[in-house]
Amino acid sequence: MEAIRKATVIGAGVMGAGIAAQFANAGVPVLLLDIVPAGAANRNALAEGAIAKMLKTDPAPFMSARAAKLVTPGNIEDHLAQIADSDWIVEAIVERLDVKQALYRKIDAVRRPGSAVSSNTSTIPLALLTQGASDAFARDFLITHFFNPPRYMRLLEIITGPRTDPRLAEVVGRCADLLLGKSVVLCKDSPGFIANRLGVYWLQVGVVETVDAALSVEEADAVIGKPMGIPRTGVFGLIDLVGLDLMPHINASLGNALPPGDAFHAANRKLPLIEKMIADGYTGRKGKGGFYRLNRAGGGKSKEAINLVSGVYRPEQKPELPELSGAAKNLRALLASETKIGRYAWRVLGQTLAYAAGLVPEAADDISAVDEAMRLGYNWQWGPFELMDRLGAGWLAQKLENDGLPVPPLLRAAKDRSFYRFEAGRRQYLGTDGAYHDLQRPAGVLMLEDIKRVSQPVLKNASAAVWDIGDGVLCFEFTSKSNSLDDQIIALLGTTIGLVQKKYQALVIYNEGSNFSVGANLGLAIFAANIAAWDEIEKLIAGGQETYKALKYAPFPVVSAPAGMALGGGCEILLASDAVQAHAESYIGLVECGVGLVPGWGGCKEMLARWSGSGLLPRGPMPAPSKVFETISTATVSKSAAEAKDLLFLRAEDGITMNRYRLLADAKARALKLAENYAAPKPPELKLPGVSGKLAFTLAAEGFHRRGLATDYDMVVSAALAGVLSGGSADLIDVVSEDQLLALERAAFMRLVRNEGTLARIEHMLVTGRPLRN
Ligand code: NAI
Repeated sequence: MEAIRKATVIGAGVMGAGIAAQFANAGVPVLLLDIVPAGAANRNALAEGAIAKMLKTDPAPFMSARAAKLVTPGNIEDHLAQIADSDWIVEAIVERLDVKQALYRKIDAVRRPGSAVSSNTSTIPLALLTQGASDAFARDFLITHFFNPPRYMRLLEIITGPRTDPRLAEVVGRCADLLLGKSVVLCKDSPGFIANRLGVYWLQVGVVETVDAALSVEEADAVIGKPMGIPRTGVFGLIDLVGLDLMPHINASLGNALPPGDAFHAANRKLPLIEKMIADGYTGRKGKGGFYRLNRAGGGKSKEAINLVSGVYRPEQKPELPELSGAAKNLRALLASETKIGRYAWRVLGQTLAYAAGLVPEAADDISAVDEAMRLGYNWQWGPFELMDRLGAGWLAQKLENDGLPVPPLLRAAKDRSFYRFEAGRRQYLGTDGAYHDLQRPAGVLMLEDIKRVSQPVLKNASAAVWDIGDGVLCFEFTSKSNSLDDQIIALLGTTIGLVQKKYQALVIYNEGSNFSVGANLGLAIFAANIAAWDEIEKLIAGGQETYKALKYAPFPVVSAPAGMALGGGCEILLASDAVQAHAESYIGLVECGVGLVPGWGGCKEMLARWSGSGLLPRGPMPAPSKVFETISTATVSKSAAEAKDLLFLRAEDGITMNRYRLLADAKARALKLAENYAAPKPPELKLPGVSGKLAFTLAAEGFHRRGLATDYDMVVSAALAGVLSGGSADLIDVVSEDQLLALERAAFMRLVRNEGTLARIEHMLVTGRPLRN
């Protein structure tokens, strides 16, 4: 087997269905099988039901409606023979050794020799799963442990056995990386593998220490959260999410599998309140509530938390903890503070980090595997070894010793040094042999983070920087807060265009923030509006239009590479680029109407050009503006890069990269390819409907208003948008130029920004992060 062209997933539960969806998202046809329910009229009911449910789930497991069609539902009694043409068969059925082994025998009878078979087990060792299996089966067998939900969690743990064919494991790993977008972490065949071994220990220590210290769940989560770079859900919020009922099973299975000396046993205490909560159906978010709940009694919605002593719910309280001020910057001070909170923070993190240090080499070959597993499997900002470096390995070892806690050998070895270091620009980690080794990126991975460590920016100002990424390609990076766009970015883009033209081949616009760009800096806009600096605002709009146009018509290729949100002005940069290489998880949209504005940096113009030239709509001047009006007036944002293609925010030929780590390399390759025979695009010639079109939009908007679907101020904004999209007062037969459209965008923007309704929307967005429906 050289590649994965077709896959099968058996078990259409939470995990199996999600894994099948991710194959489909990658364009791989997949067969999804489950058992035939007793007495069912529809023998495929389970797999079909799982697909139907996924189509309604939010956040969506499928990246597009198209992807859902690649999943073929079936059952293991009638369709198992069909797995013969699958290159990879994933088993994701109940967590029972006998049931899994019985299924493997059936699979082995019909699968093609050399096809990979993997289990998604979270607790059963590979050695047990393959006990008694033929060599031929064991050679093709491995564990691929996905995290829930499989589309969004980037970690994939892979475990191979002594009999597994390394080449087959390599192909599966490569497919998981390139097609499914996962970051593969190789684990030893030890209980719980890496992420859950440490994660479950950490949760259990978090819970028992909270009980012992008599803290509230809010206090615990405030401490074991942001200050440690851990998601705000902390310990109790996370257990609510996972399900309280799962915890005793997971704890029992880890407890049974771990040797008697393991520190997990001391933490694995039964807690009567939690047992009672589970028995009463308080299993977390999926049940009647958990440590937190939303009390809807009396028609209201009040947030409550449970009292860990009495088991009674009471209103949720925001804890006042002076120890936490500045703790994110100085975690050591928090852990050293001799208060109840400080001691609690130390007890939980100290034990967790010591446990992590003990996992190498037992569960992982090296420390970087543990860090990657916790960053991507539990969304920790820093892995445990990175946290230890932040605290100082020597300080940590000393404090453990002072407390009479054992210091693991690896921590002892790092005592006078650090776990990671930079040597001649290379990031290195401390190995179990006591020497430092280079951290190797997989082939084909290019990270701006690495380039930035070893070079100086070619250009730079307060909001952006430009980097030489080799082979004649420059990379433009936004560095402002949330990568919002401002005059500094526009100015540096202008300078960069001149520089590339003189000395380089191509430009890539890319950054490694969680969002490509949230759009224009609204804080600056409101500031300018409050002091009535209208000329300044107009200059910024006109300057942005000029610069985006210059990007579009520059004599070299511009490739934008978004990941996360690309909104408003961030979306308009994509529209002005020659090509886009998007991360699959890109959320793209023109959201200006939500803050009472219209796209003013060419967004209206480019969307009109795209839909007019798409060949997807009936002929005539009306269909394209109608389509664009619908998209922009509702501030539609795509929920994936694939969906952005349907909305024409991306072109059909734009590329999609599944693995976040590979985005820059793919964008650079794309830019170099375009540079081979580059010719700038020709300006579009648009025929727009003029005043009659505007009237049609206004009538449609009035219809929405009457039905209560549009607010009063929506009417003002959509009238302005209609004025732009219809081409203004141009006559039906006139050809409208790009510059005319830009002038219309600018005028509409300037009219709206002076309006109280718009300012109220912007202010509300800045304060609450949500649109105001005025
Ligand atoms: P689930 O209970 O949601 O789904 C299991 C599915 O397997 C059910 O639809 C069931 O009808 C089907 N099934 C049972 N026996 C079968 C058989 N002999 N042949 C075909 N189908 C059969 O379970 P879930 O949560 O999806 O877990 C599946 C596997 O993934 C387990 O091994 C679990 O340990 C593992 N896992 C679960 C995670 C989670 O968060 N739920 C995370 C990572 C791994």
